[in-house]
Amino acid sequence: MNQAFPDTFLWGGATAANQVEGAYLTDNKGLSSSDLQPQGIFGPTVERNSDNENVYIKDMAIDFYHRYPEDIALFAEMGFKCLRTSIAWTRIFPNGDEQQPNESGLAFYDRLFDEMKKYNIEPLITLSHYEMPYGLIKNYGGWGNRQLIDFFENYAKTVFTRYKDKVKHWLTFNEINMSLHAPFTGVGLPPDSSKSEIYQAIHHQLVASAKAVKACRDIIPDAKIGNMLLGGIVYPLTCKPEDVLKAHHENNSWLFFGDVQVRGRYPGYMQRYFQENNISITITDEDKQWLQNTVDFISFSYYMSGCATTDETLSTAKGNILSMVPNPYLPSSEWGWQVDPQGLRYLLNVLYDRYQKPLFIVENGLGAKDLPDTEGNINDDYRIQYLNDHLVQVGEAIKDGVDVMGYTSWGPIDLVSASSAEMSKRYGFIYVDRNDNGEGSLERRRKKSFHWYQSVISSNGKAL
Ligand code: BG6
Repeated sequence: MNQAFPDTFLWGGATAANQVEGAYLTDNKGLSSSDLQPQGIFGPTVERNSDNENVYIKDMAIDFYHRYPEDIALFAEMGFKCLRTSIAWTRIFPNGDEQQPNESGLAFYDRLFDEMKKYNIEPLITLSHYEMPYGLIKNYGGWGNRQLIDFFENYAKTVFTRYKDKVKHWLTFNEINMSLHAPFTGVGLPPDSSKSEIYQAIHHQLVASAKAVKACRDIIPDAKIGNMLLGGIVYPLTCKPEDVLKAHHENNSWLFFGDVQVRGRYPGYMQRYFQENNISITITDEDKQWLQNTVDFISFSYYMSGCATTDETLSTAKGNILSMVPNPYLPSSEWGWQVDPQGLRYLLNVLYDRYQKPLFIVENGLGAKDLPDTEGNINDDYRIQYLNDHLVQVGEAIKDGVDVMGYTSWGPIDLVSASSAEMSKRYGFIYVDRNDNGEGSLERRRKKSFHWYQSVISSNGKAL
């Protein structure tokens, strides 16, 4: 029995617009970077025009754009206190640089937030989850261009003003550190961009994030706004001092983003890294001022841990974004992601020790193939096991004294995977009848884990 969870704990699930909504050109939506990567983040980028409408899996995804009332009702049945999703920037500013927003896009999110309100489900809204207007890549060169800061600020102010009475929890950029590994998705740059180009674009995004924090405070003083990190915690493979230092440096390569967003300035270790790697970027005095608008809380995703070693003969295990040396003590998922529940407790402690700010776990889950039995039931005990083990560790971290605001499991309803654009890699408590070829009725069905999560939430974690 686990009594660690506070009464205010925000239990729920997390999705992203481009992985659930579909309707990729509906109601004047513009093309996004995600629409140009129909096979996922590491697939090729393709040309898109109206002739190839609805040919790719993400174009319709799970049709959340039209089916959200049914899905929200199912989330409410599970007892969700919170739903994390994102606004598709291209529904609001189809090309990114318009003066006026697209009213039909704004109206969609009004309907969505009103539906959530009916069930007292708190929206946790990401401003940019792995997508940006393609117009800003084509016409401005992506985040390498400083003008993107203004376009993003305008977008953020538009949605803060529109939804100020409906949304009180916001996140700026999903997994902001992922641009180091997937620059097109993260900052709209070609994969062969130089490190200086990538860090300059990242710098612009960090300033844009800080400007959004300021705008949120001005427009919705009672809201909370956080950053979002891909929590790729790394252990030293051995106790060899070289491995310990390697792990320290690898962790700093992503904690750097948190350091800027939480502490408001570039850390010293980054200046050394830039010098030693001939990375040169422009940071103005005005930028430095802006960066002081730091976040209220830190959110992060956690799926796996990894190891660091100076032994270059060892191969790496691939997650969706990160590749890390595998830990010989841990099992792996069907997709080779190492499963480490205690790593979540460790990560929560690392982040809390470093920042002393509330933490929100906004993604965690198991991608697995679900095979319905002869009666059509999905007995996903492996998913229950994974989530239960991780949540027990969240309880342990709370007992360690870590301030945890909530937990939104990734993909509470099956959705299109980000890295490989598959339907068959399922995370949900709710099964969606659609396969990788786009066939299926899109019917929703409760899996065994649906009932398990319902009891976890209704007991506030005591059922773990
Ligand atoms: C996170 C992303 O990195 O991992 C999500 O924020 C993504 O968008 C999730 O879906 C799981 O990865 P994948 O590739 O299995 O969908």
